[in-house]
Amino acid sequence: MTPDYHDPAWLTQSIAERGIRGTARYCGVDHTTILAARDRLGIARPGETPDSAAELLEYLRNRPVPTGKPSKAKAAIGRKYATELIGCDLQYPFHHEGAFEVFLGLCELFDPDGVTLNGDTWDFPYLSRFRQNPLLRNDMQADIDECRDLLARINTASPRSKKRMTVGNHDLERFTNYLYEKCPPLAKLRVLQAFDAILGLPEIGWELVKEGYWLNHERGLRVGHGTAVTNTQGGGSAQSAKKEMLKWSCAGVTGHTHRLGAFYRKDPAGYRVWHEGGCLCDQKKMRAARVTVHTDYDACEDWHLGCILVTYHPDGDAYEIRDIPILESGGRTFALVDGTEIAA
Ligand SMILES: [Fe+2]
Ligand SMILES: [Fe+2]
Repeated sequence: MTPDYHDPAWLTQSIAERGIRGTARYCGVDHTTILAARDRLGIARPGETPDSAAELLEYLRNRPVPTGKPSKAKAAIGRKYATELIGCDLQYPFHHEGAFEVFLGLCELFDPDGVTLNGDTWDFPYLSRFRQNPLLRNDMQADIDECRDLLARINTASPRSKKRMTVGNHDLERFTNYLYEKCPPLAKLRVLQAFDAILGLPEIGWELVKEGYWLNHERGLRVGHGTAVTNTQGGGSAQSAKKEMLKWSCAGVTGHTHRLGAFYRKDPAGYRVWHEGGCLCDQKKMRAARVTVHTDYDACEDWHLGCILVTYHPDGDAYEIRDIPILESGGRTFALVDGTEIAA
């Protein structure tokens, strides 16, 4: 047989008879050349199962490459979903000015069908049953008028949308409790029952929906300020969302906790999710005014600036609820939405 170390049959037989170095001498080449040829041709080393590695390599290098078939999913033509942008707990005059600007930017970006301010839009600290801070401005009319300017800015940023406001424990509840406790003879006055008129909402196109409302006709998607605050397991978000879901047995969005968080559930009754909607208030302002539990400046409330976008079918039960955290970094306030920065 003519010596040819490129021939797998000859090389296999020669290595078996002469070994690596013997084959190299026989061919007049360095032994590393024979080693390289052995590996390249997939000739088994002593102790190896003949051809197993070579066969595997051969398979891996030459296996068929699948071609991707296009997805069957496509945008449903003619299927119209509505959107609702929801901001919670503005707590005027303790609103976070940067977060509110971002909220306006999101109004412009999404052009939603509806905008909701979901309770505690005003703080009315002087109506609180807690100890009063005499240094705070005590001017309910000024607070109402100034906050209406913010509502008017939402009107400008989102001219097409329906505007709704739910009430919270800091606005209507404080107002009513104050009347009952401090001036019961006035509590029956008809003019004082019209809280939306007191706030000046109808003439700027805002509807006061008080306790909350259903976003879809199936009564499966609830929006309201909420009452649950739970701090089990050391605090954290989403636990109050769970409590609200257990109360309402459906999906929904509430504020009140000033946290973002979501609780999902799937059971024989179906899929649902409840979101806590974060807040638009400035905890530094509130701590400085001593209207929070923590009053030392370096303390931090576990509150999350942010808001919620709900996409839903008004006549069906399909929906998606999205948290939009509002971030503070390097002195700037902004949100990140699908790769775009919405900055104050
Ligand atoms: Fe609040
Ligand atoms: Fe609240």
